[in-house]
Amino acid sequence: MKKISILLCLSLLMGACSQKKKENQDAEMNRFIGSLLKQMTLEEKIGQLNLPVAGDITTGQAENSDVAKKIKEGKVGGLFNIKGSEKIREVQRLAVEESRLKIPLLFGMDVIHGYETVFPIPLGLACSWDMQAIEQSARIAAIEASADGICWTFSPMVDLCRDARWGRIAEGNGEDPFLGGEIAKAMVRGYQGNDLTQNNTIMACVKHFALYGASESGRDYNTVDMSRVRMFNEYLWPYHAAVEAGAGSIMASFNEIDGIPATANRWLLTDVLRKQWGFNGFVVSDYTGVSEMIDHGIGDLKTVSAKALNAGLDMDMVSEGLPATLSESLEEGQVTEAQIDAACRRILEAKYKLGLFSDPYKYCDQKRAGSEIYTKEHRTIARKIAAESFVLLKDDKQILPLKKQGTIALIGPLADSGANMAGTWSVATKLDRIPGLLEGMKEVVGDKVRILYAKGSNLTEDAELEKRSTVFGRDLKRDERPEQVIINEAVQTARNADVIIAALGESSEMSGESSSRTDIKIPETQRKLLKALVQTGKPVVLVLFTGRPLALVWENENVPAILNTWFGGSEAAYAIADVLFGDVNPSGKLTASFPQNIGQIPIFYNHKNTGRPLAEGKWFQKFRSNYLDVSNEPLYPFGYGLSYTTFNYGAIRLSSDSFNANGELTASVVVTNTGERAGKEIIQLYIRDLVGSITRPVKELKGFEKISLEPGESKTVTFTITPELLRFYNNDLKYDYEPGDFVLMIGSNSRDVQTASFSLQ
Ligand code: NOJ
Repeated sequence: MKKISILLCLSLLMGACSQKKKENQDAEMNRFIGSLLKQMTLEEKIGQLNLPVAGDITTGQAENSDVAKKIKEGKVGGLFNIKGSEKIREVQRLAVEESRLKIPLLFGMDVIHGYETVFPIPLGLACSWDMQAIEQSARIAAIEASADGICWTFSPMVDLCRDARWGRIAEGNGEDPFLGGEIAKAMVRGYQGNDLTQNNTIMACVKHFALYGASESGRDYNTVDMSRVRMFNEYLWPYHAAVEAGAGSIMASFNEIDGIPATANRWLLTDVLRKQWGFNGFVVSDYTGVSEMIDHGIGDLKTVSAKALNAGLDMDMVSEGLPATLSESLEEGQVTEAQIDAACRRILEAKYKLGLFSDPYKYCDQKRAGSEIYTKEHRTIARKIAAESFVLLKDDKQILPLKKQGTIALIGPLADSGANMAGTWSVATKLDRIPGLLEGMKEVVGDKVRILYAKGSNLTEDAELEKRSTVFGRDLKRDERPEQVIINEAVQTARNADVIIAALGESSEMSGESSSRTDIKIPETQRKLLKALVQTGKPVVLVLFTGRPLALVWENENVPAILNTWFGGSEAAYAIADVLFGDVNPSGKLTASFPQNIGQIPIFYNHKNTGRPLAEGKWFQKFRSNYLDVSNEPLYPFGYGLSYTTFNYGAIRLSSDSFNANGELTASVVVTNTGERAGKEIIQLYIRDLVGSITRPVKELKGFEKISLEPGESKTVTFTITPELLRFYNNDLKYDYEPGDFVLMIGSNSRDVQTASFSLQ
């Protein structure tokens, strides 16, 4: 007892000390920035709010370019997407040696899922459900980016999305707020570490604030319209989590909210973000987000720029609306100098927190650039993490894992493309050194397996669509021969093999920004190829590439094995081979539901019940909430994913069936590996609040644990249920729990669960 109270005192003391240290540091920063602000002219203050395109500064003409001139005049706060520590040093030099006040620049970049070592696209990474791995991927990205001059990343992207048509679903974490929040925190921790003044940590920029993933019709940049209850309970959750994790900056989204674009939405950027959530970093617009408000129809450049500043926007990416118009708006009384000061202060604070005033070249260490980027160690970790992101969707006849013997036919337009492995938004990497699946597989199996290859089809029959879908160096070398000739050639090749691997799906640029689709099937020409391969009667494994959930009903019915590999990054080829040949047992689980067809969208597991739900076991009932032609069920539900082994779940054991506001209860389940291989399982906890003051979802993810089990091994997984876990935003947007009855569910995915009941008194 005595020991415990001494420990308690010690930890309180340590807490108080670090609080005091933080207060001192803040006071020091305020003094420094206060005195700097006093020396700044209005023009220089407004200059800090400017994040222009680097333009010709990247072509080696740094000294003479227009941006260089502005930097020397103190009219630029930062630049982005410039690569290379030498180049960045050169540009930084203009700011700190040739501008009047020598204020360093911020250098940002879209370091989204890795830098030169590339990790899976975020939607894939999320399917690992492994917070340590996700944090580690961000850590490595930060180490590499910071070694190359970058101090600020436009990541994590935490936009919740339930619409597979939207191309940018690839960049987020899927459909669930709770999981999205956990991932957001892990990413911020990974980028920022505990100490931003270190030279290998970088500032995170959470985007796109807010609700960008809910665009109407899944069309990029489109309108969003949503109830506040849904916002707070679902879509805003991951951004809030990232803010609580200490993210240093936020990017405003392109879409409108309640009729006002996010970039000029005061309710969003000030009332919610700063006042309610206590965010004290800076807010940057998205690319031309300010000037786009002219097309949104809320005013000319001067008006929208003033509105943005008034709303709480601090930095203008590319539009140069704030720098061009704010002094006039100040004269006219549309904005105040205090507002300009506040925005400028926040940007200077970010530079201070990063330690740029102490050493503006701290990220420009050539030695680090030579030794810490794309290292063997980073690539080994990326290979491991890529394998964790793959989701085994089907393996009916246990075709997988394959034996390292015999002859394999590797067929498909995505079988031999390294450039497509990296996935969308991998701007820093060198695509030409990334191995395609053919190369990676050959390296992994050596001469044990004979590998035959044929392309089999183009990405799509529509040459123009293929062109639009293979931009940024992702060309798939279109084969101009007739479709059937290409297919026949592949079938001939396949006939000489024991097993066929069909590497099909989307190209990497078929998802991502401005890549929405109204048809989410595998393109028709590839499906024809797949049908022809299945007709050979040989076992077929579909290795699927995709940046979004696809509609795969035919494939699910006709292809015995489907491994969804998303776009696994620079080491994906090896990782796919690792999984196909059983060196790694797949363990990923979907974080976005795969619909049966596009008409079911938006489809997500945590929906409401409606007043006319279907009776248990029915898929259609007249005058109930359903469709005439397909059931309400997705093809593959949220949380779904198979393994080469099998797991058995014992009955749920509750420590008690009720608790009160000061109490808690535990729910345990024994999970056993009943197969013959070691494997990992992600155990998921869902809760349903049966009666509320507002309607509640049919289930909500409230916990998960990923465990490893040897064959025959059992582990007990225990979740603690507290009142905190049961809180939600009610109709007055009050965040609280309500006493009543709950159903608790534990299972291997959102559909296959066991249930138990408890009540909160
Ligand atoms: C536009 C995108 O929406 C955003 O995600 C990205 O960070 C910026 N461009 C900068 O490249």
